[in-house]
Parts: sequence; C-alpha cells; structure tokens
Amino acid sequence: MKKDLMEMIRCLSCGGKFDLEVDFQEIEIKKGKLKCKTCSSLYQIIDGIVVLLNNEVIDESKKKEIEGWSSRRQGTEKSLESNNEKVDDMKKEDLSSIDYLLSLPYINKNSIPSWVSQTEIKYWEKVSSCFDICLKKLNLNENLKILEVGAGSGWACGYFSKLGCYAIANDICFDNLTDAIHFVEMTDSYFERVVGDAEDLPFEDELFDVVFACATLHHSSNPTSLVRELKRVLRKGGVIFIINEPLRPITRKENDLLANNEEKKLGINEHIFSYFEYKKAFLRNMMPSKIFLEEFESKSSFEGMVNWIKSEDGFKYRVCNLMFKKELKPILELFWMLFLGGNLNIYAKKI
Ligand SMILES: C[S@@+](CC[C@H](N)C(=O)[O-])C[C@H]1O[C@@H](n2cnc3c(N)ncnc32)[C@H](O)[C@@H]1O
Ligand SMILES: [Zn+2]
Repeated sequence: MKKDLMEMIRCLSCGGKFDLEVDFQEIEIKKGKLKCKTCSSLYQIIDGIVVLLNNEVIDESKKKEIEGWSSRRQGTEKSLESNNEKVDDMKKEDLSSIDYLLSLPYINKNSIPSWVSQTEIKYWEKVSSCFDICLKKLNLNENLKILEVGAGSGWACGYFSKLGCYAIANDICFDNLTDAIHFVEMTDSYFERVVGDAEDLPFEDELFDVVFACATLHHSSNPTSLVRELKRVLRKGGVIFIINEPLRPITRKENDLLANNEEKKLGINEHIFSYFEYKKAFLRNMMPSKIFLEEFESKSSFEGMVNWIKSEDGFKYRVCNLMFKKELKPILELFWMLFLGGNLNIYAKKI
C-alpha cells in the first residue's frame, strides 16, 4: 500500500478515516496497521495488501467463498506436488509461471508452462477477446482511476496500470490477491491490493472513473446489491465494465447446469444468472446497461461464427445471411442470450 490510498479508504464500522502505523516499508508499505480515528477499529496491512474486511460481519456464504478459494489453491499446489515432473514448473519463483501470469490475458503460445491445460488456454483466448472490446470501448488514459472487484491475481489491474491508470485490485480472498505481488515487484506497473467485500466496499463515494470485473458478478448471491455498491463508488458519468459472466438459457435450471461444478463443491458461490437477472440488477439501480456477447461484438468471432454456420446446411446459411443484415443482429443476439446462453459482457453508465 502507498500513502495516497489513505484518502480513498474508510472504516467499515463507522466510515471514519484512519491513522497509519508503518512497521516495514520498501517501494510500498509492506506491514503496518490502520486505526480508525473515530471508533478505533484496527485493520492490518500484510505483504503490502490492505485487509479491510470485517470477518464478524460477512455472512456464511462469503466465508465459504473465501475458504473455497483457499482450499482450491492448496488443492492445485498439492496435485502439482504429487506429480514430480510438474512441481518444478510450479515452484513459486519459477520464471515461466510468473511470466505467464504477467502476460495474462494475452498468452504467448511459445512459452506456456507445462501445467497449463488446453482448457485454460482456450479460456484466456476468450477472456482476451472480451478484454480487447473493453479496452476499445473505454479508451483508457493515465488520468483515470479504476477499481477492479474480484480481481484474483490482478492481471487486469496490471494491464490498467501499465497504461498509466491508477488502479486498485479488490478481492474478498486474501490468498487470491497474493499473486498480484509479481506485478508490483517485477514490472513498473504498481497497483493497490485491497481485501474487502465488493458488496460493502471500504471506499469513499464517487471515487472511480471505471469499475471493472471479470467473472465476479456471478459469485454474488445478490447482484442487485453488488451493482448498487459499485455504483456508489463510481463518479457521475463513470462506467461499470463487466466481462466474462456465465449466462443461463431461460430454458435451463441453475441447479442442473451447476450439478458437477468443481468450484461449487468447494463451497464457492457459483451462480449462472439469466439475461433478465443480469438486466434486473442494473435496472433496479437505474443504470442504463448494454449486455452483449463477445461473438457478436468481436469482428473475427462474428465472422468465424458466420462461416461455421455457412458450412453447415441451407437453413443455417439463410440464418447467417440474416445475421449480416445490421438491423437483425440485435434481435439474433437477444435470442441467442435468452435461449443459448454463453459468456456475457456488460457495459453500464452512471448518469
Ligand atoms: C472466478 S474468480 C475471477 C478472478 C479474476 N477476476 C480473474 O479473471 O482471474 C472470482 C473472484 O471473485 C472473488 N470474489 C467473490 N466474491 C467476492 C466479493 N463479495 N467481493 C470481492 N471479491 C469477491 C473471488 O475471491 C475470486 O477471486
Ligand atoms: Zn471506525
């Protein structure tokens, strides 16, 4: 943590400001304490990460989310340790693993560590395409303040700060944020890491130009209250950009789709909301939103899809010709979102 973060954060119990006590400092404050000037609540700074989470207040499902991610991380490490060949690749300071992390979401296919699966490679291809759309729409510059919620390793904040933005990576799980240290120590792109609940953020009102999230909204059991909180910390005219959320076709039940979900088995809050559930979360907060699929927005994906349909049969060929007609594209996209599902992206403005 750097000192200028002090202006933006506030006590979870009373909203008060903090006194800072520094125990150890390098390029940032690595170890220290924040004491609320009003109610004396105490918060820790550990390994440069500010922990602004009140464990007594968060509900059971959020505690399970945190435990689930931590045991998932331990599980990954254990399964790698049981495979001697792979363990060397995964050693914490292994350069190829760190390079891989620092390159996300744009994986360099020539230097992928051996522990990375084909599914993961495909996942990042999709995410990078959504992220491209996001970067194009936001047109980021160095004067912008960005908050990322559910940031995990912080790859997106790494990218935002490389572009010169002031970025804060938030996550409810301390362990998930620890990987972000590699961006801070091995690149010039500094960003803050703050442990906290995205539904009860420890930030002042109207601070950020952009609130970004990748695959995080669906971890909330109450997306409307999550969006309300994101809107609170966003300045007027600011934008919420959410990418890569799973989408449930309205004909399918959430429980069926998640029946074999590995993360859910660990207690992690997995949801698959329908188009209407996502839309409702923004409507209830009076935020105009555009919900879209990467396939329809990214030119190469759209053309790829069209070519695939063309190669299928006569009926699909006719569908494809319709898709080329601009006015029908939104209708088809809506139909797709309602009945076929996919990966959703959301762009919403605070007016
Ligand atoms: C699927 S992961 C995505 C991580 C990262 N955005 C990425 O793309 O790699 C979802 C993340 O959301 C975090 N999360 C879940 N509930 C949260 C909450 N209430 N507040 C903040 N973060 C939360 C989890 O700890 C996890 O790191
Ligand atoms: Zn306080």
